[in-house]
Amino acid sequence: MTVSGTPAITETAISQAADAAIAAFSAATTVAELRLARAAHAGEQSPLAQFNASLKSVAPEDRATAGKLVGQGRARVAEALSAREAELAVAEENARLAAEAVDVTAVPSRWRTGSRHPLSLLMEHMGDVFVAMGWEVAEGPELENEWFNFDSLNMDEDHPARSEQDTFFIDPVDAHLVLRTQTSPVQIRSLLTRELPLYVVSPGKVFRKDELDATHTPVFHQIEGIAIDRGLTMANLRGTLEHLARAMFGEEAQIRLRPNYFPFTEPSAEMDVWQPNAKGGARWVEWGGCGMVNRNVLRAAGIDPDEYQGFAFGMGIERTLQFRNDMNDMRDMVEGDIRFSQQFGMVV
Ligand code: FA5
Ligand code: MG
Repeated sequence: MTVSGTPAITETAISQAADAAIAAFSAATTVAELRLARAAHAGEQSPLAQFNASLKSVAPEDRATAGKLVGQGRARVAEALSAREAELAVAEENARLAAEAVDVTAVPSRWRTGSRHPLSLLMEHMGDVFVAMGWEVAEGPELENEWFNFDSLNMDEDHPARSEQDTFFIDPVDAHLVLRTQTSPVQIRSLLTRELPLYVVSPGKVFRKDELDATHTPVFHQIEGIAIDRGLTMANLRGTLEHLARAMFGEEAQIRLRPNYFPFTEPSAEMDVWQPNAKGGARWVEWGGCGMVNRNVLRAAGIDPDEYQGFAFGMGIERTLQFRNDMNDMRDMVEGDIRFSQQFGMVV
């Protein structure tokens, strides 16, 4: 260290050096920056250290005064340094704690709120339309006795729908269990267990060996309805279906009944709805089947067909969703992409 280049020890020189040191300390915003400022302003090469070293070449009679000036300057710097050190240590600790903080009440961002599938919501909504008219909702098993799914519905052994091609039979075959192909067995279950008059809807899952395409899926949903009362006619059936169609598709909805055959209804009809926005242009599309409950079915359930009459219907829920939302492809409903469900809202 060369003492010769050090300026004279004056009150101004010392306080300038001390002020510069204090300013540098307060400008430091991290412990690391403060370490650099300390080396520059309080280290061995710092101006104040050099003033200190130059004391020995000060004239003996001035040495005490100069020593006091340098000592006071160094004391101010030391004090400012330790104050700033403490401040930054606290600030860094706080920042670290804040960064590590865990909000135990926060909803973890990885857990997304799920949404119910639009088919489930629609199925419930369709049930509600009937509940509002005083009907009851019943459920039946998806794994069904062959007898309920076919025989009791007048579909004999040779009925084409019973063939291996359309129905999932369950092993062992002599257990006579099938994945139900329609919700109609719930008609029979209701007839056998409930009092008359009877107004029941039954939404649920059904299974058929159909290829997945724009309008079919092998696992789909139907809503079945059966009403048994005195004096019911085809006009009551039509009125009920029109009411449901308007509730589903709006006041402008139109339905059409076409003569058809179902072994458990007579007369029977296939029911179409008008789809004004269908892909290839406006057209009628099949929505479900319906008819007056076959007198033989009533008799088999111990009901006198001269006293009680009834109607029944069953339509596809997927088709309903498709027509309601002008969806051209049913496959979107079964892919399980949550973005599909989310378009229908986040009802849980
Ligand atoms: C029946 O299932 C009868 N049980 C309906 C019925 C009930 C008639 C009560 C009389 C009295 P069908 O096989 O036509 O009928 O099916 C009814 C509806 O289910 C169809 O109109 C269609 O909307 C829907 N559907 C049928 N197969 C599929 C499928 N693979 N994918 C999606 N929806 C289907
Ligand atoms: Mg049909």
